[in-house]
Amino acid sequence: MMEINGQPSPEKLKVLLACFETGLHKIKVNSKPGSALSVKLDNEIEFTSSNAAVRYTYETQGVKVDTDTLHWFEWEVTTLRKHVGSYCSLSDKKILNINEFPNLISSLQYLENSINSGKLECDFSNKISAANCVVFCTISPLFCDPAIDGVFPVLRKHFDIFMNRGSFRSAWKEVTGGEGRVAFQAYFAATKTQWKETKPTNSTEASKPTEQNNSSKDVVSKEEIETAKKSWDSCNVKTTKPRVHPVLPKEGEKNILITSALPYVNNVPHLGNIIGCVLSADVFSRYCRLRGWNVLYICGTDEYGTATETKAAQEGVTPKEICDKYHKIHSEVYEWFSIGFDYFGRTTTECQTTIAQDIFWHLHRNNHLIKQTVEQLYCGRCERFLADRFVEGTCPLCAFEDARGDQCDKCGKLINAVELKNPKCKMCSDTPTIRTSEHLFVDLSKLEPKLRSCLQDSFKGEGWSNNAKTITETWLRDGLKPRCITRDLKWGTPVPLEGFTDKVFYVWFDAPIGYLSITANYTDEWELWWKNPKNVQLYNFMAKDNVPFHSVVFPSCLLGTDDEYTIVNHLNATEYLNYEEGKFSKSRGVGVFGDHASKTNIDSDIWRFYLLSMRPEGQDTHFSWSDFLLKNNSELLNNLGNFINRSLKFVSNAYGGVVPDPVVNNTDLELLALVNRELRDYVTDMDKLKIRDNLRRILSISRLGNQYLQENQPWKLIKGSNDDKSRASTVTSIAANLSSLLSILIHPYMPQTSSNIQDQLNIQGGYLIPDAITRMLSSGHKINKPSPLFRKLEESEIEEYKAKYRGREDGKKEVPKVEVEVGDSKGLEEEVVKQGNLVRELKTAKAEKLEIEREVSKLLELKKKLSLLKGEEPVQKKKGKKKKK
Ligand code: 2FM
Ligand code: ZN
Repeated sequence: MMEINGQPSPEKLKVLLACFETGLHKIKVNSKPGSALSVKLDNEIEFTSSNAAVRYTYETQGVKVDTDTLHWFEWEVTTLRKHVGSYCSLSDKKILNINEFPNLISSLQYLENSINSGKLECDFSNKISAANCVVFCTISPLFCDPAIDGVFPVLRKHFDIFMNRGSFRSAWKEVTGGEGRVAFQAYFAATKTQWKETKPTNSTEASKPTEQNNSSKDVVSKEEIETAKKSWDSCNVKTTKPRVHPVLPKEGEKNILITSALPYVNNVPHLGNIIGCVLSADVFSRYCRLRGWNVLYICGTDEYGTATETKAAQEGVTPKEICDKYHKIHSEVYEWFSIGFDYFGRTTTECQTTIAQDIFWHLHRNNHLIKQTVEQLYCGRCERFLADRFVEGTCPLCAFEDARGDQCDKCGKLINAVELKNPKCKMCSDTPTIRTSEHLFVDLSKLEPKLRSCLQDSFKGEGWSNNAKTITETWLRDGLKPRCITRDLKWGTPVPLEGFTDKVFYVWFDAPIGYLSITANYTDEWELWWKNPKNVQLYNFMAKDNVPFHSVVFPSCLLGTDDEYTIVNHLNATEYLNYEEGKFSKSRGVGVFGDHASKTNIDSDIWRFYLLSMRPEGQDTHFSWSDFLLKNNSELLNNLGNFINRSLKFVSNAYGGVVPDPVVNNTDLELLALVNRELRDYVTDMDKLKIRDNLRRILSISRLGNQYLQENQPWKLIKGSNDDKSRASTVTSIAANLSSLLSILIHPYMPQTSSNIQDQLNIQGGYLIPDAITRMLSSGHKINKPSPLFRKLEESEIEEYKAKYRGREDGKKEVPKVEVEVGDSKGLEEEVVKQGNLVRELKTAKAEKLEIEREVSKLLELKKKLSLLKGEEPVQKKKGKKKKK
């Protein structure tokens, strides 16, 4: 028999719900006004902690409570409960402004994000899990509150389902006696002091917000205290060596070669492109330098191929002019975002021709190339073979008249352009003829064993993202096939083989060679990086659609040369970043593009911070302006910025800017030990390229710092006895040193903020990440004048940006002041073509059916949007018609 006693409370609610959910029937519920929760089992075991009781209930009913669940239990008890409590204990009589409770907002946002990302699984069609039981019961009083309505849509949606479960409704009714939330008033009033949370203002020292102290965790061991003491006393500060160009690998050093996918030059990159490649690689390369490793970060524009030719035709200029224009745009955007390439080059160079042809000759000599005849459409008037995107005609399958060269918009089938009836050249409307053309294929099947054994080693690298491994394995699963590496185009690297000299290399053969040729334009000694697999670790960053070219096709080509090339050791691919609820679209004016960000009133570091906090690691994420505001105001302004500013201001105001002498005691060492834990996790995560989650460590350190100041109150101590004064000095010195550590850890994410902090601290940049926190600022060190690091983002400005980048809602409405490019639908056309290519690649590679179907439906969606944009009737999929094959 389980007996649940105590006044109505969310805690009581969860225990009862756990009983109902797990099927424990022998329960007795007693309610005594004003009494605390206690749960008794058969009059023997007694719990006073609701979570322990929930856990026990689930476990005795045969449900395993895993470590993820325990994480939620711990977070609920140390964080969520307090934030909800501090709000509810004030909001019984009036409606409060939820914005005045940043901690609550950030907790709820964390929940919202965790549900979105699948970190907190919510499947209420099944049994309610122990984690859901604990978390949702705690927030249950909030969701009857009008102040919360509409702020957290995902949470709301899930909560509604949760609330409608019979078990919850029964538990709620039983616990609240049918009164609803008011029944909890006495509980919140009685526990008020536990939740006390100072409200944030910008004025006085004492009223800054802090996270509640987590008394239940954070117990540090003796060893940790000893390490902390040793490291603090050692004052052992190491600095990076200056970066001298050209950076070359060094014997006996950790030589890290980093690339980010080379962007095409037919568009301005959007935020998703930026976080997917250049920004992620930038964070990692900055981190590597902070570890004292020898790093080279290479990128550049991918300039050849039909995408460029098409864009040039649209803009009525030459491909070269397009490349020049967009290379400049890309360079400027990346510079604004402080992307610190060692060299940002381009693929249309002589080095590219030399190296690509050299690789080609090696493959040829080693008999890895085969010739195959391909049928293609040729336009006599334009004197060119027509790539799929240049032909239209009647669908051979459904007779739809406006089918494209690659796919029919009506029946959705992929078609081979030569099978189109009445084909027309899109440039001149002439009827093209079928001509056969001989092409060169690299025979990947022969290279497969070599590739497999190479990947076996490579997969040991800790930087591989799961998606990169899975995609690679999918390609290998069905065996590799010959792939065409030539095209009948003009804008590309010329094929040097007799009989093929009027052709160019296919972009995907050519583009990855760009990494090598760009390095060759940076230094003549490029082979020290690229033909040095024993001494160089290669990291490739990209979005997931680029994976097979980097993990299968390109490495196979390099292996086929029999030269000893450096081959990818860590391939890190992101999923996609969406914009608000949809996708970025240049043509529809939806989303923020690289050049827009610089025109907002928000610093590039803030953009970096937000993008990195939303890095699509493991699943798609979406950019949200409201979340942007929230993260800036709660995490940067109220937490990180607040801690550093109040620390330095105190040094300035109370000590004339001179760092005082510390005499550390055990409490201080406990703090340092906790900081060291975060520091260790920071390094471990960064090595594994868990870039997004790692931001948490930095914010945790400043949170610990805020707590420490709050608990010790040096502004009071300094007015007290000599002992008090000495404590004040110690606390101040530690806070200043923590700021110094934070300036280093934040550097990969926010390089300008990092130098700003270091300027204020009057220290030179270039400190390495220490193994454990040490005294970097000695007593007597004079700091410069402190100033706030961040500013508050206002709702009003965010609303303005939201409206500006919202785009045309249904493809029809005009939107004021959206910068839409001329030839706008073309951008979407490009997307359609790109997606079409992806679909074909997948089909050729015999990818999984589900994956193909998903990409095909994306393609159809894009096409529908394009028709809408062009004012055409969108083409509907035929209903009822079964797909063959
Ligand atoms: O998807 C793209 O934008 C390609 N231009 C990436 C090429 S990456 C490398 F191979 F150059
Ligand atoms: Zn033509």
